[in-house]
Amino acid sequence: MERTLVLIKPDAVEKGAVGKIIDRFLEEGFRLLALKMLRLSKEEAGEFYKVHRDKPFYGELIEFMSSGPIVAMVLEGERAIERVREIIGPTDSNEARRKAPNSIRALFGTDKGKNAVHASDSKESASFEIPFFFSSLEML
Ligand code: RTP
Ligand code: MG
Repeated sequence: MERTLVLIKPDAVEKGAVGKIIDRFLEEGFRLLALKMLRLSKEEAGEFYKVHRDKPFYGELIEFMSSGPIVAMVLEGERAIERVREIIGPTDSNEARRKAPNSIRALFGTDKGKNAVHASDSKESASFEIPFFFSSLEML
């Protein structure tokens, strides 16, 4: 069993897609261990995405991720990290619509930056990202 962190980003919250996205993960067989809605400050968004601090899109990413409410959740399942990444699809929502039309980014993403969801990409990132949002006490 593996755990992964998923964020529903501000564009998808604004589109009213929270329920549909959570339901998709449940239909795919994952267990929902923790869930909350919150808004990140720019500082918190910068800390969460600090692996990208030298990338040209970092400033835009921080602005976007702090622009409105997000939903954070922890999902559990067999090979959850890899399987959730598969279900969300490629980073660029338009590429997702071409290559993976049933992926979450294809269905609910806007463009390359505003792409509806985040998901941990490795065990190492999950072990940083899960406690960033949830203490073990908040997980049932
Ligand atoms: P994430 O971390 O959010 O799950 O996305 P990812 O692994 O698919 O993509 P990553 O390379 O880690 O990039 C993190 C987020 O930065 C934004 N981005 N914008 N404008 C651009 O060229 C660009 N490239 C990346 C996206 O919001 C991406 O999800
Ligand atoms: Mg990433």
